[in-house]
Amino acid sequence: MKFLVTAGPTREPLDPVRYLTNRSSGRMGYALAGAARHEGHEVILISGPTVLDVPPGVDFIPVETAQQMYEAVRDMLPGVDVAVLCAAVADYRPVVCAEQKMKKGAERMVLELEKTPDILGSMRDVFGFRGVLVGFAAETQNVLAYAREKLQRKQCDMVVANDVSRSDIGFDSRENEVLLVFPNREEALPKDTKEHIALHIVEHAANLLPRV
Ligand code: PMT
Repeated sequence: MKFLVTAGPTREPLDPVRYLTNRSSGRMGYALAGAARHEGHEVILISGPTVLDVPPGVDFIPVETAQQMYEAVRDMLPGVDVAVLCAAVADYRPVVCAEQKMKKGAERMVLELEKTPDILGSMRDVFGFRGVLVGFAAETQNVLAYAREKLQRKQCDMVVANDVSRSDIGFDSRENEVLLVFPNREEALPKDTKEHIALHIVEHAANLLPRV
């Protein structure tokens, strides 16, 4: 099978030296790409900036902004069987990116932001993706309710929900603890390394692909 995985944060520039970003080390997404490759799948990893090594045997497409990640996902989708969108994409970006470094001046400053493209939300209706669609939900409360709502609204086959209010799992840490949310059931994966959690996610996702 062919997997596409997004990982890491995006950077939305304000000027040549500053940007808005999201917390994400990329570890969960890179573990997913590595696990899918380990299981014998073809893998495309589209990632925002991280310090991680690309897992061997994985096709790697580095990006910076949400717009670049959107375009890379759209362009690489033909032939993909399973898409796992794990990236922590910035939801908003500055309306204007200054050409020169902004100089310090006033005591207060107001930034005008606009929405970035919703990659997960475009998969079905804009990109016409018909394969297995796995989204992530990074929540700080009502984890199950928000994940289930995301599953339906974004037309996913599975949502991997993690509680990012905890410092021992989720962002940046080496471990995670997730709830797999399917249309008619849930499955909790207890705290484990991101590599082990990733293997379970890949196995579940591959099993969701209808056999022909
Ligand atoms: O990178 P690590 O340090 O290992 O941390 C892992 C993680 C916490 C980042 C990861 O497990 C995780 O939860 N990833 C999703 C982070 C996120 O932005 O969640 P969200 O609930 O805001 O977004 C929901 C889904 O929509 C995600 O699949 C996201 O990739 C996608 N999305 C969001 C915004 C956008 N403009 N386009 C998108 O596709």
